[in-house]
Amino acid sequence: MRILAIETSCDETAAAVIENGRVKSNIIASQAKLHGKYGGVVPEVAAREHVPAIIPTIKLALKDAKLSLKQIDAIAVTQGPGLMTSLMVGVDTARALGVALGKPVIPVNHLEGHIYANFTYHVSRNTYHIFPALILIVSGGHTLLVLMKNHGKLKIVGETVDDAAGEAFDKTAKLLGLGYPGGPALAKLAKQGNPQAFNFPRPMINSKNLDFSFSGLKTAVLYKITKHVPRNMYHKTNLAASIQQAIIDVLIAKTEQAIKKYRPKTIMLGGGVAANNLLRQRYQLLSINYQLNVTIPALEYCTDNAAMIGLVAYYKIKGQRSKVKKYGPFSADPHLMLK
Ligand code: KG4
Ligand code: ZN
Repeated sequence: MRILAIETSCDETAAAVIENGRVKSNIIASQAKLHGKYGGVVPEVAAREHVPAIIPTIKLALKDAKLSLKQIDAIAVTQGPGLMTSLMVGVDTARALGVALGKPVIPVNHLEGHIYANFTYHVSRNTYHIFPALILIVSGGHTLLVLMKNHGKLKIVGETVDDAAGEAFDKTAKLLGLGYPGGPALAKLAKQGNPQAFNFPRPMINSKNLDFSFSGLKTAVLYKITKHVPRNMYHKTNLAASIQQAIIDVLIAKTEQAIKKYRPKTIMLGGGVAANNLLRQRYQLLSINYQLNVTIPALEYCTDNAAMIGLVAYYKIKGQRSKVKKYGPFSADPHLMLK
């Protein structure tokens, strides 16, 4: 079973090949530098950039996998959520390829993709031992706690009521004058700072539910900066370290609450913010404290990629005992929900 996967939900043009559940190739053409000039992703620009990049990216993914288009059994593509015009480039390309090759095209939810980034290691593990799994998805657009009872059996148990964790990183990084995307830049600066230097709010950390809120943090940082303009690098690194600490404290505290409530066998991590070193360390520690299995995707599978999209499709097909179901026509859906 060979799947060609395509992902264009935001500013990464990505293609990958999955063969029997293993990643054969994973190509990502990032537009981050271009959007950096504008301080964030410009949807119109993103869509326009996907168009010339999509075919060469697919070609590279096939070349890396040493396969031709004819050897592909199915095509998987991100249907949503994401930017409408960006999604359309991937969906239209996938559907055109599907018609031309006479192969099925499988629509995939981007967020489910971030979950399946945890399945890049070939899972010969008995799924009995993995499930139920609790997954923290932390990306630029979403912050979710998902309970996964089995493949395809997902339930959102917590989510952000305002900004996403990645958004909190990006917006506070912008206030510190760091470029886009702000998350990695802020994390880099934080390494040299004192995380206790500023006591930023940790909104909803003690609330009874599993929801998150990050917009107050941005306001607190803005207030601190306008009151005490960061005069030197020392001050800036301390701000970065304290911001990072506040965001991650909340993410870990809520995951811990969810562990106590749902008693999962495994905890998993996903989304761009999962690339954050401190979060990875604290997540690992959490699994040790509660004696749980843990999977944390390799860095290339944390931020947007197509391998994770192909893996969702693989497990969907596998669930039907390897028969590729016929998928009807579908269109890009920027607000697609996780079911
Ligand atoms: O999953 P992703 O690539 O795109 C979305 O689906 O949104 O996530 C991008 C987000 C951005 O907000 C970026 O700042 C954040 O992930 N990010 C990080 C790090 N690397 C990426 N945040 C904190 N620390 C990092 N090392
Ligand atoms: Zn994403």
